[in-house]
Parts: sequence; C-alpha cells; structure tokens
Amino acid sequence: MKHEAIISQMTLEEKLSMLSGDGPWRTQAIPRFGVPSITVSDGPHGLRKPNEKSVAVNDSVKATCFPTAVTVAASWDKDLAKTLGETIAEECLAEDVGILLGPGVNIKRSPLCGRNFEYFSEDPYLAGYIASAFINGVQSKGVGTSLKHFACNNQEERRLSISSTVDMRTLRELYLTQFEIAVKNSHPYTLMCSYNKVNKVYSSENKLLLTDILRNEWGYSGVVMSDWGAVNDRARGVPAGLDLEMPGCNGKNDRCVIDAVNSGKLDVKYVDQAVDNMLDLVFRCQKNAQPGYTYSIEKHNEIAQKVAEESAVLLKNENNILPLDKNKKILVLGALAETPRYQGAGSSHVNSHKITSLLDGLDALGVRYEYAPGYTLDSKKSSVKAREAAVALARNYDTILMCIGLTDEYEAEGFDRLTLDLPQSQLDLMTEITKLSKNIVVNLQCGSPVTMPWLSNVQGLLLSYLGGQATGGAAANLLYGMANPSGKLAETFPLALEDTPCYRYFPGDGRSVLYREGVYVGYRYYTTAQKDVLFPFGYGLSYTSFQYDKLDLKSTQYHDGDAVEFSVTVSNTGDKDGKEVVEVYVHPHDPKIDRPDRELKAFKKVFVKAHSSETVSFSLSKRDFCYYDVDSKAFVLDQGKYDIIVAKNVMDSSLVATVEFVDGNTKDKHLSINSWYNHPSDREITKSEFAELLRMDLPERMIAPKKGEFKGEHLIADLMPTSGLARGIAKIARFGIRTVTHVKDNDPGLEMGYRCFIYTPLYKLPAFGYVLSKDSLEGVTDVFNGHPFKGTGIVIKDFTNQLKKHIKKKK
Ligand code: BGC
Repeated sequence: MKHEAIISQMTLEEKLSMLSGDGPWRTQAIPRFGVPSITVSDGPHGLRKPNEKSVAVNDSVKATCFPTAVTVAASWDKDLAKTLGETIAEECLAEDVGILLGPGVNIKRSPLCGRNFEYFSEDPYLAGYIASAFINGVQSKGVGTSLKHFACNNQEERRLSISSTVDMRTLRELYLTQFEIAVKNSHPYTLMCSYNKVNKVYSSENKLLLTDILRNEWGYSGVVMSDWGAVNDRARGVPAGLDLEMPGCNGKNDRCVIDAVNSGKLDVKYVDQAVDNMLDLVFRCQKNAQPGYTYSIEKHNEIAQKVAEESAVLLKNENNILPLDKNKKILVLGALAETPRYQGAGSSHVNSHKITSLLDGLDALGVRYEYAPGYTLDSKKSSVKAREAAVALARNYDTILMCIGLTDEYEAEGFDRLTLDLPQSQLDLMTEITKLSKNIVVNLQCGSPVTMPWLSNVQGLLLSYLGGQATGGAAANLLYGMANPSGKLAETFPLALEDTPCYRYFPGDGRSVLYREGVYVGYRYYTTAQKDVLFPFGYGLSYTSFQYDKLDLKSTQYHDGDAVEFSVTVSNTGDKDGKEVVEVYVHPHDPKIDRPDRELKAFKKVFVKAHSSETVSFSLSKRDFCYYDVDSKAFVLDQGKYDIIVAKNVMDSSLVATVEFVDGNTKDKHLSINSWYNHPSDREITKSEFAELLRMDLPERMIAPKKGEFKGEHLIADLMPTSGLARGIAKIARFGIRTVTHVKDNDPGLEMGYRCFIYTPLYKLPAFGYVLSKDSLEGVTDVFNGHPFKGTGIVIKDFTNQLKKHIKKKK
C-alpha cells in the first residue's frame, strides 16, 4: 500500500469518511492528515459544474458545449478526440474540477436507448479507441476522467434496478471490450460503475466485474466510484472492489461498513485498499490543480465548431446538389434552424457560453435566404398554421433547406424512445413539401437513428447529430462547401425498429432484460443475417471521391502472436481536398465457433489533397482475430484463414486479402443451439437455449407485488397498475419536481426526475435527495401493504425526530 503511513493512523470512521462523497460533487477532506477534498463534475461533452444550491439539472456554470459522443465518434478521428479532451480539461482546470465524469462508452444495443447520444458506438473497438484518445487528452492536462457506466447500462428503462442478463462470451466481446481498451491504453483516474445489475448482481457489488476482470485481469489501479445512487449494499460493495460511494450518504452507509468490520464480517484490508486508492486520487488531483487557470472562450468555440465540422455525416448527395450555391436565394424551413438541438438532456447538459444556430451560420456566410419555422418545437402546440405558411412560401423557391430532428422530449437521460420516428409535425411538413417536387436538402439534428420515409424525395442529407454550441456554423460551412464532410456513421441506421436485433427483448420484463441476440448487435447482425439497412455502419460521403489500391501485406502466413502488418494506398480522385476514414474488418473463413460475418479491427482517418495519394499503414494484433472462449476463459485464436477487408463502410469490400494463421485452436466449438446465429432472421433463440448459453438459470419473471408483499426494494412503478395510492404519490411527486425545478410539463428534465422517482427502489430514494428518510420509507411500505395506521405512525414519528434533531442543530 502506498499510503500506509497515513492509513495506519486513521480511525475506522475517518477511513470510511473518505469512501463516500461530501454532498453530491465533492469528496471528503481530512484536515489532520492534509487530505484535500476534490470536485467531480459531469461530463462528458463539456463541463457541467452545478451551482451547488440549485436543484435544477441545467443550472451550472457557463462552459463550452462540444458535440456529444455520438457526434465525436462519427469523426473516427482519434487526434480530434484527444484535442477535445484537452480542451474540456482546460475548462475543468479553470473551475477547479479534479475529475470530469465521462466518457460514457456503453454499447448502443438498441437505437431506442434514451442516452445513446452520450455513447460512442455499437462497436466496442471504435468506442474503445475514441474514448481512449479522449481520456488521454483530458488526463494530459492533469484532470482525471471517469470511464462510465461499467457495465451493461444499455437502456434507461428501469436503469436503477434492471438486471442485464448476458452470456459470458457476449459480455467479454461486446460489452466489456471498449472498457478494456480504454483502461489498458489510457488508465482513467476513475471508473464509474453502473446502476443496473449484471446477471443478477448489482454492478456496485459485482466482484467479477470490479475486481476479477477490472483489477486482476486488466491491471486497473484507479478508483472505482458508484454512479449517483447506484450503491445497494456498501458492505458488499467494498470487498467487491467499490471504493467511493457517490453522492454522499450522510454517514449512513459508512456506518454499515463500520458495523461489518467491527462484527468481523468484513476484513478491514478491503477498506484500507479503497482508502489507499482514494488517497492516491485526491493527492494526484491536488498536485495537478492550477488555481487561477483561464481559457479562451472564443478559441474553445472554434474547437467546438471544428469538431462538429469533422463529425457531421453527409448521407445523400444526389446530382451533387451539395454544396449549395451562395449566390442563389433559398428557403430555409424548420424551427430547428433557429433553435438548434445541439446537446442531450440530463446530467450531461451544459450551460453553453453561446449558441450558433443554422440561421446564424448562414448569416455569417452572407447567404441569402428566407426562413419559416414550418412546425412548432413544443409537441403540445399545433403546427398547422406554421406548416401552411411554410408550404405557401415553398411554392416560390427551387431549393429548400429543411431543418428537422428530434427534440429533447424524444431523447434524454432517464427514459428510452418508443419509436424511431421523427415528431409527427415534422413528418407532416416533409410530406407536404416533398409533394412540391423541389430541390430539397435536409439538415438532420438528432442523437440517434431515425426512420426516413421521405428519403427518396430529397436530394441532399447532412446529419449534424448533436453538434454542440457551434453546430449551426459547422452545418452552414459544410452545406456551402467551406468545409468538406468527412464523418462516417458509428452506428447502423436500420430501415425499421422491427429490424433491430434486440427488438423482441428490449427493454425486458421489468426485472430483467435478456440479451438474447448475443454478439449479434448492430452491424454484426445486419451483415451476418444479410439484412438491408437504411445506412450501414461506417457510411459517409464527401464532396470528393476516394479510391483504395495496393493492399500490401508483409506476409500471408503467420504464427500465433505475430502482428499482421499491411498498407493501402488511398487516392483522392476528385477536385477537392478531403479526409477519408479507412476501415479494416476481419472475416474468418471457417470459424470454429459461430461468429459475425466481419468485425471492425482498425481504422484511420487521412487527409488527402485533390488528385494525390497517401499510403496508410495498419498493424493487427493476435487479439484482433480472437473470440472469447467460455471454457478456457480466454480469448482464443483459431488456426485457419481470415480475410482482411479494407472498406469504406461495413457493407463494402474495396480491397480484400487473405492471411493464414498456421497455429492456434483447431477444435470445433460450434454449439448446436447457436445455429440461430447463422440464420438470425429465421427464428429467435429460445429461452431454454439462451439459458444454456448463459450457463445459469434465467432470472425469475417480474411479477408485480401484491398487497402485503411490497418491500423497500420495490418501485412505485411496480404498484401503480394496481394501487390508486401509488398513482396518487406519483402524481404528487411529478407536481413537486415540476414546482421545485420551474419547468414545463413536457420538459425532459421533469420526465427524468419523475422516472427516477417511480423507477428507483424505495430504499434508494434518499440518495436522490427525495424528502423521505429511510425510516419513513418503511412506514410508506407498511401503508402500501395494507397497514395505514402503523405506517402513518412510523412516518409521523420519524418526521418528529428529524425535526427535533434539526432544531437542536440550529441551537
Ligand atoms: C448519471 C451519471 C452522472 C451522474 C452525476 C447519474 O445519474 O448516470 O452519468 O455522471 O448522474 O450527474
């Protein structure tokens, strides 16, 4: 232990004080040992340092709002991700923030996940390396990061209680690999465990995840902190590898750990180890602090715009309608052109220094245009008049720039989307305008895939995703050719929700969600099942064209452990300078286990001048050819042949070469139950087959508790279908949150707070600052269980005690 000298002098109480927060955003100091308190703040695409006294999630210090993770991943640019990290770190230094709570690297299992805008990709390799570059950037400035949410937090629905049920191979190959890449390559100061359970065990007390894999296998030596309110039982969490509980617990959970140590149930060595990890962290942050640090708001805005420009994806450009001609007056339709959607709602929300809309961007370029909103942003208000006015104007123009997208109401932390469709008012406008047979260019603003019934009737489509505060400037530059698009999708855009591989299993039955599609997530499914998609993973156009030649392999035969090295020539065959993302996939010829058709194993973004070429080199390691073998509990290489595919997107095979590994595993590992994997569209894997794959019993089905069965672990939502009282409490809570936060009824922050209330196990509610204490909650469960007098008595007694304590404190 590094800090034994201090730890040996600490009382058990002092030790435990270090292992939970001092309120929501700080760690606890111990002045007698010179142990400082450090500040942690969200994260991830800009700084959200809350105004301590405020309860509103959006009330934080001014900061630069950069493009969100989904956007940054579409840049496929590690250098850019690093620059972004360095830039955000400067704002952390200026605000004396020691740890930035990000990046989030959860895999986009379903495009419905409400928080997908905060995550990078459906592919662990891409997510892992972009996250790694971002962490390297932040930490190069002496600010720590928190890699989150570990693990399998792939939906918002019941995120505080759901058990993600995943077989070990899928867990290792898909849901942990990106964490592994980031941990091994970038050593984040902290890692945040998720709210949910993984295979029935809460992440915050999951020894397999937090100790066996994270620390023992990957060699992680930083701090593991809980997500806010993710602790279930601290006395179980500490020996499993949890160091820090966030937010603070007012000493309550510390007490549980102290009791466990004093009663001999818990070895104090686990506490000491956690304290050692914490001391390392806080001293490191203290040393790195730079009081008085300042940054240039203007320069950071320029970087935000650059990231947005390099990340936007050109999805359609029929007859080269783009770039637009500056000398021609156009009609701009869509309220999002004036009020952009440029970030997501929830804990990542940044209070931006400034916001540049598309209209601002067009003004800066001196473009001539007329504008009409065409729809209202508030779904509660009618769009009929706005639409009629837009259609009337549209008749006078040849070229129409339509700005559409998802509003905050549709995607936010705390709840998932129910459909992939755009808001109806926008679809109605699209229907009317596309009927007029004009030249139509769409600028799309959203944090995850949407369906596009209008696609064949528009000529141009630029996807800005959520482009940060400078999104409008970036979009205008791209639409008018001041910048050349170079982003590519880091996720598949499916044709329909029903096509998504987890469609039948997402978001589970209330208690558990079965990951029955296994490793066949995103393109791994679409390519293997040969299913058509709207836009494939890795897809994106440019205003120039690229050609790949000369796949030059060092050798075609390899031994276990050899690096596979090769280069390709990328030529810019068009008239404009541009950047191209070169993607490398591996396809096994005759796998000994059912495997996806191809998997991404390398990528590089290169700048190539018009009419010239660049040579791009790659090196693949043994791991890039392996799968996880549950029997040997290791990543295994099969002997045999593999195609190296150099491609423009996952459905492309521009250049292919075959290599052979002459040693490695030769035994067949096909499972008969896995035959589904070869024909994933034919039938679904049954529950019993899935249980066999899991090698454990499936969790019991969720059955709503009846009167008399309600316990602290249950949720208000569990009772709402059958109890008028529960529905009443939920209504009051919604009203209360709305009143305290002063927001509109369809505000995503209200929805998030409300969902948090009804979907949080009752015993955890105090961690979220809800007014009821633990004792009162016992009273409430009694009331639900049909003992109104007993329950109310407990609540009154508890309130009286608390009041007395409060008065005593004031005196
Ligand atoms: C989110 C985390 C976030 C934390 C603090 C949680 O609800 O899941 O991502 O860092 O709150 O705001």
